[in-house]
Amino acid sequence: MAEGIEEIWTEKYRPQRLKEIIGQQHIIERLKHFIAKRSLPHMLFAGPAGVGKTTVALAIATELYGDQWHGNFLELNASDERGIDTIRVKVKEFARTIPMNGLFKVVYLDEADSLTKDAQHALRRTMENYAHICRFILACNYSGKIIAPIQSRCAVFRFSSLNEKDVTGCLAAIAKKEKLSVDGNALKAIFTTAEGDLRKAINILQMASSEKKITENVVYDVTSRADPEEVRKMIELSLNGSFKSAREMLLDLMYQKGLSGEDIIKEMHSQVMNLSVVDTQKMQIIERIGEYEFRLTEGSNPQIQLEALLAQIALIGRR
Ligand SMILES: Nc1ncnc2c1ncn2[C@@H]1O[C@H](COP(=O)(O)OP(=O)(O)OP(=O)(O)O)[C@@H](O)[C@H]1O
Ligand SMILES: [Mg+2]
Repeated sequence: MAEGIEEIWTEKYRPQRLKEIIGQQHIIERLKHFIAKRSLPHMLFAGPAGVGKTTVALAIATELYGDQWHGNFLELNASDERGIDTIRVKVKEFARTIPMNGLFKVVYLDEADSLTKDAQHALRRTMENYAHICRFILACNYSGKIIAPIQSRCAVFRFSSLNEKDVTGCLAAIAKKEKLSVDGNALKAIFTTAEGDLRKAINILQMASSEKKITENVVYDVTSRADPEEVRKMIELSLNGSFKSAREMLLDLMYQKGLSGEDIIKEMHSQVMNLSVVDTQKMQIIERIGEYEFRLTEGSNPQIQLEALLAQIALIGRR
């Protein structure tokens, strides 16, 4: 690694063995059995971004082949390999040399759900033609987009989003190794921004790491996210009839903090359920937010639209 260029933490801290994978316990247990028997079925990994699909596939290769995994593992991306023809050519080339240990080789095909139905039928034939040499791991976000004949040939593994404890635990461990000072609220703020996507969470931590002390405000800064407390206060002011102060807070968010209309309205939306008003009022606010968010995406002036939204919220507060 060249001096001065910092390694990307998601790669630096990507676990190499199955036992180091965070969460996904039910999946790891099933996989351990296959590895112990040194027999793998074709597999379908379904689930959201950044939760360990590629990492688990790489760990399987490491468990099976140790240091020699490179020659026995082929990673392809269905969306950028220009379609099924490239995939077939690459698999054919890869399957030409015999696998190590008399085992099989592993083909990991990312974004399999981006293939058209016809391409998936062709893929299914490729899987059958090379089944004596290759095991396929198909990864996708939505298993519903994978044709039934492929699903029925695969063991399906459903990856879930990682929970708060797992994400903040992982971030705290990285922070310790990188000698960062991060407070608990900052970790929580990273989690609420990234949700269960650990890749996103680690990336946010790395972006924030230029600061000596990482607080929740640093996190909102680097993610250009509006401070949730402030946004909730702004809505409450409007609901309670202090439209003028609410508007001042809006202008501060836009012109002092430099947030876009979309950033602000998104945070307003996530705060509605935390407001202390009756459910019908929450519903009315959500409906209005939906309407104004649409106007923003259509290119309307953000200040005018958000002020109008605050005015609408003030009216809802009077009911
Ligand atoms: N379950 C996990 N355990 C440990 N680290 C993880 C886990 N999930 C994600 N990570 C971290 O996030 C990075 C990205 O994870 P990975 O590439 O496995 O995501 P993915 O599920 O394949 O996402 P995508 O659908 O976007 O391809 C990893 O390099 C690792 O640092
Ligand atoms: Mg992946």
